[in-house]
Amino acid sequence: PATRRQFLGLTAAAGFALVTGCSARQPTAAGPSTSTPGGLRLTAAPMRVDLAGSEIPTWGYGTLPGPEIRLRAGDRLRVELDNELPDDTTIHWHGLAPPNRMDGVPGLTQDPVAPGERFTYEFETPTAGSFMYHAHVGMQLDRGLYGPLVVEPRSEELSYDREYTLMLDDWRDGMDAHGGHGADAGHGSAAEDDGGDAVSFGGRSYPLLLVNGRPPEDPPVLETRPGDRLRLRVMNIAADTGFRFAIAGHRLTVTHTDGMPVEPIPVDALRLGMGERYDVLVESAQRGGAWQVGVQAEGRGGWGRAVLRYGGSPASSPPAVAQRPGELDGRLVAYADLLAREPLTLPAGSPDRVYDLELSGTQIGGQSYPDADPLPVAEGEWVRITMRNTSAKWHPMHLHGHHFQVLTPTGRGPVKDTATVAARGGVLSFDFLATNPGDWLFHCHNHHHMEDGMVRVVRYR
Ligand code: C2O
Ligand code: CU
Repeated sequence: PATRRQFLGLTAAAGFALVTGCSARQPTAAGPSTSTPGGLRLTAAPMRVDLAGSEIPTWGYGTLPGPEIRLRAGDRLRVELDNELPDDTTIHWHGLAPPNRMDGVPGLTQDPVAPGERFTYEFETPTAGSFMYHAHVGMQLDRGLYGPLVVEPRSEELSYDREYTLMLDDWRDGMDAHGGHGADAGHGSAAEDDGGDAVSFGGRSYPLLLVNGRPPEDPPVLETRPGDRLRLRVMNIAADTGFRFAIAGHRLTVTHTDGMPVEPIPVDALRLGMGERYDVLVESAQRGGAWQVGVQAEGRGGWGRAVLRYGGSPASSPPAVAQRPGELDGRLVAYADLLAREPLTLPAGSPDRVYDLELSGTQIGGQSYPDADPLPVAEGEWVRITMRNTSAKWHPMHLHGHHFQVLTPTGRGPVKDTATVAARGGVLSFDFLATNPGDWLFHCHNHHHMEDGMVRVVRYR
């Protein structure tokens, strides 16, 4: 049995068993082997996914999500991307801070990888955490070109028994209201129609919510045992959907946001904007049965789910769901409650450079990409960006190539790379240190907003 001391991570060298993903992900060549000389190959290609019995044509890296890439802090990531799509593509390493030429933004940091071509990404990964990789061309991410990327610390300070990665997605394919289970891979889940009844942030329709590529009818099962401590890495890769996340009958202890450690804090539910991640610990109580892991679309009624199941019933038997998550209205994680365990080392005084940017419509500071002025910074500067959201939608704003610290009254706000600015008057500020020269995107991670130009470039001069 765990002591509170262990739980809070004060005991180094606590053993933990690593369970690779959950049943939703097939074993792949990914994993620690990515740090071996040959590295890993990801092939972007048309593929089919099985969504509750329907074979849906789409694009991806072989599985949905793509293979989990696992490295250790200080390893070198080496990934050969083979493009077998009928379209240009790239890979962006969401939350990592690689050299600029490895950042995967077509036309800005690299030439797009043309059909039939290969590009090798290679760089060091000094910072541990829960990250993601995804295509950064148009709406390709929305078709399934994404996967999880976990950088393990050299020595783990958290103590836990099992670990699962959960990628939350919204999906348009395979639904009759959207052209049925069409055979045209070009449809993807990125079709531009706005049909259907479901309402979402961008006004688009995503009737299906997936957890690790699985629909609610066929949920992934997280096996556990009474008394086990689980670590969950929850990641929102949806194009257009913010999520609430809770587990019936269980509290969550937040330990990291966007991969960066915070003082452990108990909550009932997470709220994740697109591009955000939370690591949580879950204490399995001395109970049995199956419990719903509920994923609810923020602002509308849709549900996705997984199942947390105790005991050794055969994996093939469908889990009984004991109850709906009633916890979604309980205490939600809030940035103001999070305390960074490793705050940025900011100099005394005030920032060297301050940007005050209004988020209006899908503009940042009154401008739309690509006709937007870059935001200049100089290497070594302490930069503060304040966003004032006058629009009716909330915007999860993501900065490439850096970690920033959210300004909260404690002065020790969480270190993140994606932060959601509330609709209708929300204000959020963050600080970062300009230590990674190049041209870096700063954009809304609602992919429709991004496609509509909600992008600026932070440019080192
Ligand atoms: Cu995951 Cu430019 O973003
Ligand atoms: Cu937005």
